[in-house]
Amino acid sequence: MYQYVHGGDIYSAKKLINSGEILDFSANINPLGLPPAVKDAVIHQLDECTGYPDPFCRELVTVLAEYENTQEEHILCGNGASDIIFRLVLALRPKKALLLAPTFADYEKALNTVHCEINYYNLKAQNDFSVQHDFLDQITAELDMVFICNPNNPTGQLCTNPFLKKVFDKCLETDTIVLVDECFMDFVDDPENYSAQSYLCKYSNLLILKAFTKIFAMPGIRLGYVLTSNPTILDQTRLAGQDWSVSLVAQAAGKAALTQIEYLEKTKLLIRAERKFLIKELSQLGFKVFGSKANYVFFESAKYLDLHQRLLGKGILIRSCSNYVNLKSGYFRIAVKNHEDNCKLIATIKDVII
Ligand SMILES: Cc1ncc(COP(=O)(O)O)c(C=O)c1O
Repeated sequence: MYQYVHGGDIYSAKKLINSGEILDFSANINPLGLPPAVKDAVIHQLDECTGYPDPFCRELVTVLAEYENTQEEHILCGNGASDIIFRLVLALRPKKALLLAPTFADYEKALNTVHCEINYYNLKAQNDFSVQHDFLDQITAELDMVFICNPNNPTGQLCTNPFLKKVFDKCLETDTIVLVDECFMDFVDDPENYSAQSYLCKYSNLLILKAFTKIFAMPGIRLGYVLTSNPTILDQTRLAGQDWSVSLVAQAAGKAALTQIEYLEKTKLLIRAERKFLIKELSQLGFKVFGSKANYVFFESAKYLDLHQRLLGKGILIRSCSNYVNLKSGYFRIAVKNHEDNCKLIATIKDVII
């Protein structure tokens, strides 16, 4: 039977505890909320919805190219980053792929649709779940695709760009395509040390995945994109889905979002301060915190394996990570929210573990 495996399912949580109020720490969404300019753009666009959206997202792609400092020909937009993952896999039909373990579940879900064999690079607690140099040894000529989530979900650990360069070089040798998922990169301090962006034109085997979802707090609108200098892959991916996957409303929202420079600066400051606060508080409570360089914090609660259930009883939803490959019960991920909500979470944790 189908099982939903992600965070953010407030609908099931509300039903489960029979309450209309859930404080959701299980989806990692910008706590500043939807920028007002995006909301206005969406409302304004509703009048145009009797027509089809632009299948090439032309106006959005023009501003996105400027925002990403790349060429319009290197961009394909989709219905959220997940849509792009499924379309890429359908287009490329890899036979063998390498994934981090644990990592975001949709790579595997998409690969399963084309019966791809999956190899795992098992991240280890003793290395704080960070990717080590021996990752390169697992890149062999049999691999068609490698997925690197950077920062990784759920661990919040980063690969540096000199390391990524080694991965890309090895993948060129082995004729392997690399997808680097940077959906959370906009929350990271000093992204220039980690992002694969500067390699985009040098490596035709490189795909960078991004989304408006988390950084602009618009998971309900659905807008993601892939960057690559490989026109064949972009065309194949375009062919592997419908032409109107990005609605008129999503295109307008995206254009408006990209003008929100101050919002992005405020986001970074807020996340930096609140992440520090949560890490300190969780550590003081005896939890082991790992990595956590993005807008979420990954930790182990060896003593309270049912921490998520205890919190749900109090109307707070956190992400139990026990269903990730290579993780067992007792690992959790929480979103970094605003100070009031973060204080509420910490107070409730204290309440449920005494
Ligand atoms: C690492 C990562 N990539 C991609 C996605 C999918 O994002 P979207 O909602 O834009 O499809 C998620 C969603 O949680 C994610 O965590």
